[in-house]
Amino acid sequence: MKARGTIRPVVLKVGGELLDDPRKRRVMARAIVRVAASVPLVVVHGGGREIDAALANAQIPKRQVDGLRITDQATLGVVVAVLAGSVNTTLVAAVNAAGGRAVGLTGADADVCRVGRAPRHRTTTGELVDLGLVGRPVDEGPSRLVATLVRDGFVPIVASIGAAKNGTLFNVNADTLAGSLATRLAASRLVIAGGTAGVLDESGQTIPMLDRAAASDAVQSGTISAGMVAKLSACHDALAGGVSDVIVADGTRPPRLASLLTTARVRRGAWTQIVG
Ligand SMILES: Nc1ncnc2c1ncn2[C@@H]1O[C@H](COP(=O)(O)OP(=O)(O)OP(=O)(O)O)[C@@H](O)[C@H]1O
Ligand SMILES: [Mg+2]
Repeated sequence: MKARGTIRPVVLKVGGELLDDPRKRRVMARAIVRVAASVPLVVVHGGGREIDAALANAQIPKRQVDGLRITDQATLGVVVAVLAGSVNTTLVAAVNAAGGRAVGLTGADADVCRVGRAPRHRTTTGELVDLGLVGRPVDEGPSRLVATLVRDGFVPIVASIGAAKNGTLFNVNADTLAGSLATRLAASRLVIAGGTAGVLDESGQTIPMLDRAAASDAVQSGTISAGMVAKLSACHDALAGGVSDVIVADGTRPPRLASLLTTARVRRGAWTQIVG
């Protein structure tokens, strides 16, 4: 339950492809500063593209199922280096250069994202797959660290790494982490920004509103696949966790994304409202 007087932040998840060059990062950083000036904001970022590039460089094969990365020890090393290292630090620096007050975190900090090893994943085709060193967030109530930073006017920027109770690091899908954090912080809104104009139908048009049954049909028919499967599962978990406003949005135009994040009533646009 939400304690009285608690700030309800907006949680924004930013996909790695929106941050993979300095210009994109600058534009996104400006949008983050603009949003944070009017609403309490927590940012979670992925880094899929940069991780893929680093894996290719190190000649480590990429393996994914339903948008979830099968993670062995070598892959985890790359994930941590890229996400907590370059992607997080460069985004934090860009937001601060744009006039913001960003603080870089990972799930290993204090109570940001404690995880347990994820159980085997049941794929959209019904098989059970061991994801390896992938963590599933444990709901231990609101993160005091994140809540304190937000209350004091900082913008926490969280890289999607989790730590188990014994200190073992795990790779956590960034949408999963964002959904879990949104629930734990009693966020007023969760916006997952990626490279597409929300969730697309079979002809590539934005679906304005998507409920669980329609999402499940679209996954079965193959209209929704890969990273979008993980995204929708995170969205439904957040809805079930009490976040009433959950949106998958186009992040390729950060000024429009900023308007979406700061508006009280969401109208139709390049985004999909996820409903229960
Ligand atoms: N119906 C659909 N609508 C939109 N995108 C879809 C759909 N089905 C599959 N996708 C794929 O899902 C991808 C988004 O997930 P992906 O994991 O690749 O990126 P991300 O989660 O935004 O980034 P990161 O992994 O860096 O956090 C899209 O780029 C698209 O290729
Ligand atoms: Mg993804």
